[in-house]
Amino acid sequence: MAELFGGVSTSHVPAIGRAIARGLQGEPYWKPFLDGFVGVRAWLAQQRPDVAIVVYNDHGLNFFLDKMPTFAVGAAPEYLSADEGWGIPTIAPVPGDQDLSWAIINGVVEEEFDVVTCQEMLIDHAVTVPLQLLWPDGPPRVRIVPICVNTVQHPLPSPARCLKFGRAIGRAVAAYPADVRVVVISTGGLSHQLEGERAGFINPEFDALCLNAIVNEPARLTVYSPRELVALSGSQGVEILNWIVGRGILGSTAREILRNYHIPISNTAAAVQVLEAA
Ligand code: DHB
Ligand code: FE
Repeated sequence: MAELFGGVSTSHVPAIGRAIARGLQGEPYWKPFLDGFVGVRAWLAQQRPDVAIVVYNDHGLNFFLDKMPTFAVGAAPEYLSADEGWGIPTIAPVPGDQDLSWAIINGVVEEEFDVVTCQEMLIDHAVTVPLQLLWPDGPPRVRIVPICVNTVQHPLPSPARCLKFGRAIGRAVAAYPADVRVVVISTGGLSHQLEGERAGFINPEFDALCLNAIVNEPARLTVYSPRELVALSGSQGVEILNWIVGRGILGSTAREILRNYHIPISNTAAAVQVLEAA
């Protein structure tokens, strides 16, 4: 049977990819955030995942505003990255796990989540930067199942809907018969806003509330509407929805292994958190 052992959630700021490409990891600006990943990599090396379910949001590379699925699941044999204009290099194609993709798609559709299925899918910085953070020495040593959540164009799914979606994915993984070790990687957040009068907005108090609640009280976050999330965490801080889906996948109880929070990376309150499933 599949073993879902835990999850890593991390910000996905493109500037991190640029810093990695330029070898700036040791500089004072980057070190406090990147040091948080030393423990994450040690944990991953110990846990030896075969597959990563990557919950993220696309930023206009694969889906544009003309066609915007609320939830989309990758079912491709491999995933290509492409130039998004952020000045970060593309990475080598990442292999998919089509069997697990279809098991998840079948499971969630049976539970009435009518996802878009993507047998071709370009992955943007929200997938590639976290993979580079977790496997800095070369291609990621996992196959991936990318799951894309609309955090970009309103109406967005509510935190309550995202938690339910994650739980449905978790049940599909639990029922998956192959002996694979599965990790969840959720990306985005925490608070940030890139445009308008409030550009640069960060809310450390709300970020702390989210980091605490997500461990064992994720339902606390379901009281917010997407609009309230924008007010509290910024127009892109709503990427916390990806973390909520990821937390739902892990099941009812979890143990926090590691947390690092650093302000700012670019315009973003940058965080990484590792949870082990019970
Ligand atoms: C930034 C943050 C993001 O989440 C993103 O997708 C793009 C840019 C930033 O802070 O620069
Ligand atoms: Fe983003």
